[in-house]
Amino acid sequence: MSIPGRSTHELRRFASARWIALGSILGLGGLVTAFSLTASGASGTDPSRVLGPNACAECHKQEAEAWKATHHFKTFREMPRRPKANEIAEKMGVSRIRSEGVCLTCHYTVQDKDNQKQPIAGISCESCHGAGESWIKIHSGYSGKTEKSETKAEKDARFKLAASKGMIRPSSIYHLAKNCYGCHVVPQEDLVNKGGHPAGSDFELVSWTQGEVRHNTWHSKGKQNVPASAPRRRMLYLVGLGVELETGLRAIGRATARKLYAFEMASRVDIARRQLAVAAKAAPNVPEIGKLVEFAHSAGLRLNNEASLTAAADGVAKLLVSITEKYDGATMAGLDALIPGPDKTKGKAREASAVD
Ligand code: HEC
Ligand code: HEC
Ligand code: HEC
Ligand code: HEC
Repeated sequence: MSIPGRSTHELRRFASARWIALGSILGLGGLVTAFSLTASGASGTDPSRVLGPNACAECHKQEAEAWKATHHFKTFREMPRRPKANEIAEKMGVSRIRSEGVCLTCHYTVQDKDNQKQPIAGISCESCHGAGESWIKIHSGYSGKTEKSETKAEKDARFKLAASKGMIRPSSIYHLAKNCYGCHVVPQEDLVNKGGHPAGSDFELVSWTQGEVRHNTWHSKGKQNVPASAPRRRMLYLVGLGVELETGLRAIGRATARKLYAFEMASRVDIARRQLAVAAKAAPNVPEIGKLVEFAHSAGLRLNNEASLTAAADGVAKLLVSITEKYDGATMAGLDALIPGPDKTKGKAREASAVD
């Protein structure tokens, strides 16, 4: 069977035909343990440190304009109006979508106001770059100097400090990807099995960052919305697939019922490990990819196997971090044929335009 020519979407459909087989794998489990909906907040954004998108837009006007054209911005108003939203909410026993935790973590930016968690926007700057309060002044301060007089060492130290206070920079691909997947693969089993919510998106990091989401207008001083370079796209592709695998393994580990959620997650893992096996052949000079595949096969995709699945996921995570430390994509041209092309991007990137 030839995987390279297939889109993720086709692969996923192809995989659902395999559910019966996967189901029999999963069938080895069966004991249902209590599952709590308080499972991890999808994105790690701390509401007490969220400043809100207007605080960023003061300086980042172009990036904010691009953001306003995305589903992430629009979900604030549009999601609760969809008939499907009420259906899901009703099944979950949620009476007000905007005031109950389970929908807030993924569809909104939440800020602490008057000791209450309040939704202030859709998915916004800090949902992806980290809650800003502790790093906003640091990241833009040029170490107390100017852009020209700050030394390279001072600049590195400035960004290191900002990262230690929770800033997620575009160069931090693993953290960036983890954040996307925290929302785009649903960690709450009940939301899917009981609420009828999609289990996750047909997500791929290159095509999903390079369309409507892209706002690389800052370093070009607003002249251009610069696409990710070829080496960066390779890293996005590889790390994205790895985080897909990590997320799926953890999700099966936590799943308790032999139902849709577990099947969906098993199917995601199965596809990701096939795609990674193809990538390992395409980039033989990156032996870590083969090791990712080995981890993917080291734990059975079945219920009641959390310890082993989590250990596999931890192994994947460690390798991914080391891949991002060791490589920058320059030597991974073999991956280019596997990466979805510009015709596959999710939405259209906004053209840069003069706003001041
Ligand atoms: C006072 C102006 C100002 C505000 C407010 C501001 N920024 Fe920035 N931002 C900057 C400057 C200046 C840089 C460029 C620093 C550099 O390249 O050395 C920057 C760079 C960035 C970068 C790119 C960093 C990189 O790795 O190249 C990101 C991401 C970012 N800001 C996000 C945000 C977010 C999110 C907020 C709101 C929480 C915000 N900024 C608020 C001025 C600001
Ligand atoms: C873990 C993150 C997460 C949580 C929690 C979550 N959602 Fe979603 N939701 C998503 C993502 C991601 C999508 C987009 C899926 C896709 O790509 O099709 C989505 C899509 C939707 C859609 C559109 C689905 C469709 O078929 O058109 C609705 C409606 C929705 N969510 C409602 C809710 C409601 C109501 C809640 C709370 C009960 C909720 N969501 C909780 C992440 C989440
Ligand atoms: C959905 C997640 C997401 C949201 C929301 C988001 N960003 Fe980004 N941001 C990214 C990603 C991903 C990149 C790097 C894109 C790439 O690799 O091409 C980036 C890049 C940047 C950069 C670097 C631009 C350059 O010229 O290189 C800045 C500055 C920035 N974002 C600021 C913001 C601000 C301000 C907001 C809110 C108005 C925001 N971002 C909202 C994910 C996000
Ligand atoms: C806080 C949760 C959250 C984070 C973090 C997040 N997303 Fe999303 N994203 C969503 C939800 C929810 C939707 C669906 C919104 C809707 O249509 O109502 C969505 C929709 C999208 C869409 C539009 C999909 C379509 O149907 O056209 C793209 C593209 C996207 N996300 C890319 C990304 C990327 C890339 C990242 C990481 C850099 C990211 N997202 C991070 C929650 C999130």
